[in-house]
Formats: sequence, C-alpha cells, structure tokens
Amino acid sequence: MTKVESELLLIIDFGSQFTQLIARCLRDFNVYCEIHPFNKIDVPFIKNKDPLAIILSGGPASTLNNDSPTIPDIIYHLGIPILGICYGQQLMILQLKGRIKSSRESSEFGRAVVNSANKISDLLTGLFNDGMETVWMSHRDYVSELPVGFEVYGSSPKAPYAIIANENKKLFGVQFHPEVHHTPGGKKLIENFVKISGFKRNWTMDSYRKKAIKQIKETVGGKKVICALSGGVDSSVVSILLKEAIGKQLTCIFVDNGLLRSGEAEEVVTMFRETYNVDLIHAKEQDLFIQNLKNVTDPERKRKIIGSLFIDVFEKYAQSLGDVEYLAQGTLYPDVIESISFSGGPSATIKSHHNVGGLPERMKVKLIEPLKELFKDEVRALGKELGLPKVFIERHPFPGPGLAIRCPGEITTEKLEILRAADSIYINQIKRHGLYNDIWQAFAVILPVKTVGVMGDARTYDYACALRAVTSVDGMTADYFPFDHSFLTETATKIINEVEGINRVTYDITSKPPGTIEWE
Ligand code: XMP
Repeated sequence: MTKVESELLLIIDFGSQFTQLIARCLRDFNVYCEIHPFNKIDVPFIKNKDPLAIILSGGPASTLNNDSPTIPDIIYHLGIPILGICYGQQLMILQLKGRIKSSRESSEFGRAVVNSANKISDLLTGLFNDGMETVWMSHRDYVSELPVGFEVYGSSPKAPYAIIANENKKLFGVQFHPEVHHTPGGKKLIENFVKISGFKRNWTMDSYRKKAIKQIKETVGGKKVICALSGGVDSSVVSILLKEAIGKQLTCIFVDNGLLRSGEAEEVVTMFRETYNVDLIHAKEQDLFIQNLKNVTDPERKRKIIGSLFIDVFEKYAQSLGDVEYLAQGTLYPDVIESISFSGGPSATIKSHHNVGGLPERMKVKLIEPLKELFKDEVRALGKELGLPKVFIERHPFPGPGLAIRCPGEITTEKLEILRAADSIYINQIKRHGLYNDIWQAFAVILPVKTVGVMGDARTYDYACALRAVTSVDGMTADYFPFDHSFLTETATKIINEVEGINRVTYDITSKPPGTIEWE
C-alpha cells in the first residue's frame, strides 16, 4: 500500500541470479526501482508504472530457443531509456532485428577484459581510463550483428559487441554483468545510465519516511491497527513508523513464548512502553508454549507448534481489543519479489521459517506492510531515521522459534535456563572484544548430550554446549568466524565456571552450505 510516488526504474527479470543486485545497486544511487518478471510485462503495465527507465536483467535461457522469455517489442519504441544486461541485451538486439549466435567456442564464464572502441558515450563516462575494463561474463550466446542505429563501444575476445548503444534512442546493452562485485567499473556504468535517464535521485529514507507516514494515515483513517512486535529490527521499525503515523490507534502485541534470550522481554517491553510510549500488550504465555513443546524433538514439529500457538495467542489478545481493522507486518522487499523458477518445481524446503502466515485471513483483518519496498539495510537506515538506538538496529538476527531451535532434542525449562546463561556470557564476551559488528550472527546451542568432566577434584556429568558465530551477507551462505584461540579459551572457561550445568564447550566450524546457521 505504501507505493512511494518516486521516479521509478523498472527492472524486468528474466530469471538471473543477480537481479536483486541490480536493485541494490540502484537503491544506493537513491533511485527507486521495482523488479517484475518478464511474463507480467505488457503495454498497460508499463503505462501504469510509467517508469523513467528500464533495465532488462540477464537470465539462464537462450534467445535462440523457441518459447524463450520475451516482452512485447513495442517497449523499445516508447522513448524510455533501456539498458539490457546479458540475456536482456541479446533479447533487445534480436527483437530489433539484429542477430544472435551461439557456439561452444564463444563461451565466456568469469573474468574477461573488454577493450574500448574509442568512441565517446555518456554510458562510459569515467570508464576505460586505460582503454580496457575488467568485467564478469557468463554467456555462450553473443550478439553477432547489430540492428540499424546501434554502434559498438567495447569488445571482448568472445563478445564482439560487449557494449553497444543506439544513443539517439537511449537503448544500451552490455554482454557482461555490471551489477556484480567482480565488474569493478559496473556500478559506475549503471550510475551513468541513471544519469542519462534523467533521474533526480531523490529516493532517501527521509523522503520514504514522510511519504509512508502520509500513506499510512490515508489508508487507516480512524481505524485500529495491531502489530506483532517481536523486538527484531523489522517489527520494531514498523511499530515506530505506525506510532508516528497514527499514535494511539496502534496496539502492539509482544508474545513472550518463553523461548527468548536473557533479559530480552523486559528490554523490549520497557523500551517500547517507556521510550516510545507505544500501547503494548505483554502476552506472558511461556507456560503454554513450553507445555506444548514437551517431548517434541523434531525441529519441523517444533516450528509448526510454535507458529500455530503464536497465531492462537495473537488472535486471543487481538480480540480483546475489539474491532481491529488492520494488521501491520514487517514484510520486506525480497519476500515479495516474484522469483522466476526455470527449473519448474518448487525448491526443496530446508527449514520452514516461522511467520504469521494465515493470520490475516483467519482474523479477517486487512494487512499493512509499510516496509515491503525496502531491503534489509534500508530498514536499518529507516530505523536510524526514526531514532531507534544504534545498538538495537544493529542486533544480530534472531529466529522466530527462538531458543527452541538452539536446544536440539527435548526442550525443558532447565535446559533453556542453562542456554540463556551461556548465550548471554558468550554475546557479552563478543561485545567486550569489539567483535559484535564483525559477526553476522552468534549464539550458543545446548547439546542433547551430557559428558563427563572433572571440577575441583570431583566428577561432573553435565551438558555440552556449542558456540556458533558466522559471517554472511544475507544468511543464504555463511562461513564460521575465525576467533583467536585466546578468545575461545577465555569464553569457554568463563561459561564452564559460571554456568551450572555445562562442563564442556565446543566451537562449530561448519560453513553454510553444507551446514545451516542454526542447528535445527
Ligand atoms: P539457517 O539455519 O536456515 O538460518 O541457515 C538462516 C537465517 O534464518 C534464521 N532462521 C529462522 N528465522 N524462523 C525465522 O524467523 C525460523 O524458523 C528460522 N530458522 C532459521 C536463522 O537464525 C538465520 O538468521
């Protein structure tokens, strides 16, 4: 609902694994962009969106195959500047009556060098300072003949038309991927395209905040809104944004499921009630969750039970508020981008993430999703803009099912207490050593094994605990954090000395893949 009236750059997705990188790059240039799949694109859609420019993404298909992804060719004649990348370039050229060829010898995967054709183009300002650019290629097909009106500006050994343009019509194409890190001049090229297209570059978090608040007010009118506040960055930012927009019409519900970290519930409740004066229901339902998780050891069952109890509890408290019309959710842009699957089948479920899916239908409430145009780091920037404390915004992610999935095997109150104590020591150690912001996520896991130890000349038989710390960009892949041995020694000793119930500490050095970040 919070469509921001900003100049739009439309990214048409042909299924490239890098499409989101194009969007991230544009947002960094303060350009608002949206990704839409090729099969959604028709002239009414374009007219309705009214983009100032279009980027055609790469993709795994070949334009030489029948029924390869395409778009109506009138799009090239609407006077909108277009940049085609890889598959996007080839499609544009083919539709404008140029030619594409393919051969095994023309494959270029990975690093390649593009040589300048020594022609001036605004697309290449600041590039080719020494006559060549290193780029990242991933293609077998290539443009072999240009349509009328196009000229070549750069070639690689396997792509004679690596950079092409019809300057008059502002149609541009590159065979390589300017959006990836391994094309050092790529961002500059995209920025040049943004300049050529005449963007004012006014997409900032300040403007987003003002417009989002205006739109929330218009949508909600005088109705009541509820929000599930978990204390994570997304739901916190949604809550504060709504509080600014509609004040006391907002009630947040914080469900305490007994699976939170040490001191977490108090911290969230105090901060939102006292600092932000938000009407907050603190639903203390620890017993309900722990009882229902009794004897449950399967990780997916744990997730399902927690997810469905969450919905029951949330509904119960929401009903006590009377006629609520809206439910606010912290859905982010990556959650709403329709991804294109060329493999056909759905991808395998590794873990079913807990969310509040199904809630709006069951409660018959309408949804407000004020973050649904933002990437995670933009949500953090918006949080800063809204005055949320830096330490809060920069917190590591915490999963919906909480400590339940850091307690493999059966969950008991005793084990949760031990885990909380160990986790708190570990995280404090990380902070004390100034490592918190170098790590993407860190936590302790209590293992379902007891091992023998010796303390003060006596035999012990206590739980083993694992420590996990990873570096990552998006949680999709991760590597373990290379702590100094001295840090690990100090931390392990502290945990064993201070936490009753743990007599052994291990450090998890598994990357993702093959491991996952959480243990369950
Ligand atoms: P995995 O373990 O899948 O974790 O490598 C990737 C990221 O997702 C978080 N995670 C979850 N978050 N509900 C959530 O809200 C879940 O069920 C869940 N499982 C994992 C995990 O903490 C990491 O940040």
